[in-house]
Amino acid sequence: MADYDLVVIGGGPGGYVCAIRAAQLGLKTACVEGRGALGGTCLNVGCIPSKALLHATELLHEAKHNFDTLGIIAESVSVDMKKMYAHKINVIKSNTDGIEFLFKKNKVDYIKGWGEIVEPGKVKVGDDVHNAKNIVIATGSEPASLPFIEVDEERIVTSTGALELTKIPKKLVVIGGGVIGLELGSVFGRLGAEVTVIEFLDEITPGMDKEVAKSFRRILSKQGFKFQLGAAVTGVEKLKSKLKVAYKKRKDDSEHQIDADVVLVATGRRPYTEGLGLEALGVTMDRGLVMTDAAWQTNVAGVYAIGDVTEGPMLAHKAEDEGMAVAEQIAGRHGHVNYAVIPGVIYTAPEVSSVGLTEEALKEQGRAYKVGKFPFMGNGRAKANLVSEGFVKLLSDKETGQVLGAHIIGPAAGDLIHEICVGMEMGATSADIVKTCHAHPTFSEAVREAALALGDGAIHA
Ligand code: NAI
Repeated sequence: MADYDLVVIGGGPGGYVCAIRAAQLGLKTACVEGRGALGGTCLNVGCIPSKALLHATELLHEAKHNFDTLGIIAESVSVDMKKMYAHKINVIKSNTDGIEFLFKKNKVDYIKGWGEIVEPGKVKVGDDVHNAKNIVIATGSEPASLPFIEVDEERIVTSTGALELTKIPKKLVVIGGGVIGLELGSVFGRLGAEVTVIEFLDEITPGMDKEVAKSFRRILSKQGFKFQLGAAVTGVEKLKSKLKVAYKKRKDDSEHQIDADVVLVATGRRPYTEGLGLEALGVTMDRGLVMTDAAWQTNVAGVYAIGDVTEGPMLAHKAEDEGMAVAEQIAGRHGHVNYAVIPGVIYTAPEVSSVGLTEEALKEQGRAYKVGKFPFMGNGRAKANLVSEGFVKLLSDKETGQVLGAHIIGPAAGDLIHEICVGMEMGATSADIVKTCHAHPTFSEAVREAALALGDGAIHA
């Protein structure tokens, strides 16, 4: 038992970042984590392992499809799944160990076990009860399956099981055309699986700018993805030799079936608060989410919540920002998160990224806006690298020119978006982006060209 200024429950990107920042600000801090490794979903069974597999399989795709054009002869490219997974495991370990090192460096106590808030100011882990002047709940989320589908993480998997599949399925059916379905569908598609995505809505990636979503679907279709849109999965029958996925087309209620070796359920995630004792504590919840005020404090004084257990996008970087901000707040400083400028990235090839408002949202708001677009076909670097699919789309206020949103599909879209994030944070206009010198030849020139298109016109289009 020990006395702390702050006990953070959960060692994911929200929790560990919060703990480190709090310690840096002079608070005696502990972080409670029960999974046996720090880093949460992101480092252990999410962002990082999936990126290891996405990178490896993207190189495989390059070798198979682009090497010849580039004049590289590699006749027999093949895959060693064991090695690919060993790389994934090494990356996870070096990242999670890195956080333990950072905890030691910053004097954060790492308490191993599952935490329960037994009363305000007291966190129980195993048999020990720790006193905490402040408590931050950062317990994240877990996959939300469909009630009529029993996940076994072997043949019917969530993202967690999909990242453990060492045998490439011949036929993979993905339920849900969101981020997880498309990223992991890409991994197994590149490894040779026939991938069919069944999506309830009429377009993939709900919430994304419609023009980008449509282009994204077309590019993925060219890569071999099959899509059943406007279709609700109604059941998965488990036979010895295969799975039978039943779905209903929403427009005419017609019933269909498709065979699969593996089904990936990627229908969203839900907040994880099991065993925390929140009900007994009287913490206000809504649909499983922990409700907080603008300073991330729950209705129980001294108990805060951040990340996936709270409202907003379930993104590691949103949790990190909240983690830092709540630590500042508890330390008596001013913590702030600008929710209007949180980028979203899908790490497929090409990547897709966005920040700010979509064209649909601007229309809904009745706001006068301008659209500036530039295709990567007009970008020299993209052509040299054989990655000229996609475009940059910028949206600005018609009167003031202020940048209101950016939507990019193309090479390095996940990095390019940050120029716009910084710009939006500082209230930039498209003219500010135009006036900024962009190195040649870089993909980033496409962003400047899209900004030029908002004014007197792009040069290379
Ligand atoms: P999602 O919310 O992105 O997509 C789920 C999709 O499933 C939706 O399009 C929905 O319409 C569809 N769906 C729901 N029920 C269905 C049914 N019965 N039949 C067919 N389709 C159905 O959720 P996803 O992909 O599972 O990701 C979960 C969370 O993890 C998201 O919040 C996402 O932002 C986050 N994440 C982010 C990543 C990134 O930033 N690159 C990577 C992976 C996850």
